Amino acid sequence: MRIGVLTGGGDCPGLNAVIRAVTKSLIGQCGAEVIGIQDGFEGLLGDTPQTLPLDWQRVSGILQTGGTVLGTTNRSNPLRDEAATRQCLANANALGLDALVVIGGDGTQSIAHGLADRGLPCVGVPKTIDNDIAQCERSFGFDTAVATAAEALARIETTAMSHRRVMIVETMGRHAGWIALEAGLAAAADVILLPEIDYDIEAVAAVCRAREQRQRYTVICIGEGAKPRGGELTVQGLVPSSHDPVRLGGVALVLREQLQMRLSSEVRATVLGHVQRGGMPTAFDRVLATRFGHRAAQLVRAGEFNRMVTLQGGELGSVPLADVAQRQRTVPADHPLLVTAREIGVSLGI
Ligand code: F6P
Repeated sequence: MRIGVLTGGGDCPGLNAVIRAVTKSLIGQCGAEVIGIQDGFEGLLGDTPQTLPLDWQRVSGILQTGGTVLGTTNRSNPLRDEAATRQCLANANALGLDALVVIGGDGTQSIAHGLADRGLPCVGVPKTIDNDIAQCERSFGFDTAVATAAEALARIETTAMSHRRVMIVETMGRHAGWIALEAGLAAAADVILLPEIDYDIEAVAAVCRAREQRQRYTVICIGEGAKPRGGELTVQGLVPSSHDPVRLGGVALVLREQLQMRLSSEVRATVLGHVQRGGMPTAFDRVLATRFGHRAAQLVRAGEFNRMVTLQGGELGSVPLADVAQRQRTVPADHPLLVTAREIGVSLGI
């Protein structure tokens, strides 16, 4: 067997752990040859495929490292036109691939689904710090992003306290508030604003005013996809060649302006950005990524293609790629963590 492996979309802590587990399982359990495809689907779109042979030695020592040894991009889509799709399939064929393990988020899994429909056997592995992939309750990388954001919030709190300021911290997560919610709870944020709940600026200002009297400072954690009631998303820019071209970012600065005109305290904003995606994965993510990679290799060996590895109810499983493509898992209105937040006095901005 000759199996290709690629990482697509934004990078994420734990990618190397998956690459390692896929490679070691396939070599160890069935003597397969494993070929890394470089820079996501980009590596299958040129005249010659760009590859990196993966053997036992190449994947040793990468478990704890951030980023991806294969490189990645969220700018290249082989389904963008028929010529690109054909080029991609021809390159996979020229490499003699029996299957392709595709490690990526919802956009990348949609591409895998499209290629699978065109005859390339694919197995998906869900990846994203945003934790927003349909049918998967926990993706690797999320725990690391939450830990990084929570640490940043805790650091911001001591400076908020010292200066009696209102400090706003913006997390990533696109249209899902999982990072903001868990990091906010982990770091005792006073206000947590999520994309799923449009905030009322007067309600947020009222919390800060009340705290000006008593605690004298306020820490607000806001997800990048949050917006004020009746307002718009804050878009940082567009990447036209990307599967999902809209890049969010900067809502913390919008909120800062809105609050500053309503409060006597000084209001400051910090956008955490890509620091949440970089660096060493937590032990939890290293284990989850290893389990995902191993399960992907099992699916390949069993010939169960066009499926994505999942985690549901704490158990590993798999679902058809068709059930994942073009869907996102956001925070439901009745999620237990929202109830916990409300009942311990955290404001959700409404
Ligand atoms: O999907 C992961 C993510 O980090 C999002 O949270 C964020 O909105 C986006 O990627 C940023 O993408 P880029 O690296 O292209 O700026």
